[in-house]
Amino acid sequence: EEIEKGGYDHFMLKEIYEQPRAIKDTYRGRLLADQGIIRMAGIDQNLEKFMNANRIIIVACGTSWHAGLVAEYIFEDLARIPVEVEYASEFRYRNPVITEKDVLIAISQSGETADTLAAIKLAKEKGAFVFGVCNVVGSSIARESDAGAYTHAGPEIGVASTKAFTTQITVLTLLALKLAKEKGTFSETEFHEFLTELETIPSKVERALEANPLIEIISDVYKDSTNCLYLGRGYNFPVALEGALKLKEISYIHAEGYPAAEMKHGPIALIDEHMPVFVIATKKGHYEKVVSNIQEIKSRKGKIIAIVTEGDEQVKELADHVIEVPETLESLSPLLTTIPLQLLSYHIAVMRGCNVDQPRNLAKSVTVE
Ligand code: G6P
Repeated sequence: EEIEKGGYDHFMLKEIYEQPRAIKDTYRGRLLADQGIIRMAGIDQNLEKFMNANRIIIVACGTSWHAGLVAEYIFEDLARIPVEVEYASEFRYRNPVITEKDVLIAISQSGETADTLAAIKLAKEKGAFVFGVCNVVGSSIARESDAGAYTHAGPEIGVASTKAFTTQITVLTLLALKLAKEKGTFSETEFHEFLTELETIPSKVERALEANPLIEIISDVYKDSTNCLYLGRGYNFPVALEGALKLKEISYIHAEGYPAAEMKHGPIALIDEHMPVFVIATKKGHYEKVVSNIQEIKSRKGKIIAIVTEGDEQVKELADHVIEVPETLESLSPLLTTIPLQLLSYHIAVMRGCNVDQPRNLAKSVTVE
């Protein structure tokens, strides 16, 4: 096992550090930026299904559901296709309206999650086209789907999902971009710029990982917290949910993710000098609005840990700590803003003496209801 960990103390840390390579492996051979082409067999052979779809329904559980939420922003924003994101466990039992004009995308790292598998079977019975996004090759969901795309993240051993999440987002981004191009919602120039930027993401993830020593110091300050709040807007709202999930899964600290603007409808009542608030406040996408949310937290004496764009000055003035990530397009920012939140949960869990790779009561894959 020590050999498999490749010199890292835990699988989770190894998998966090594998992300630059995993993301590259996900788009390798699919993204031909110089030719302005995205090639994905599962889509190329079924393009009509996507082009004629009335809507896309995404079903998933846990971290994969968060990747689905990010995908909702990407699909609607870039390809202008209506998207609904559902917990597979709710979808399968609520007599959903599904037609032959729907495309269902099932996202699952393991490809074995019972609820997601059941949701696929239901959608197929109703005649929808099912596209699987799985990591494990040959898994049940991959086999049950009409077509699909693998994430190629490599084996993920840590129960708390890390590289599966960022590679799922990468695959779904490729899919959205391809559809945007086909539908003409994106100009050639925009398309080209996007592809070129996507290719810089692995090296930008490397840069985000360089904040690790600082993140360890910040983790030490907040390791004894009993509650934490995570806030983000737009593309980074699902990242806030995922940040909170990571913390509760492995450190057993209660954490909630919220859309930053929704804070005033509840969580703001919880804020006092004992409440750490992790805020994603990158430059693009509602930056000024998030800054005013940060001011609201500050005036209630909450502790602010902000994820900001490199070189940010405004948030630095307000926050107790800032962690920088490189600048990128707003729609690609979740691939970067997720990284410090993964590292924070990891260090806090280690400092609390928790079993990081196998947290209590959790399973890597939930194959029963
Ligand atoms: C379990 C795991 C999570 C995972 C979820 C969905 O709860 O602990 O890390 O996100 O299942 O799993 P899947 O394999 O379908 O992505």
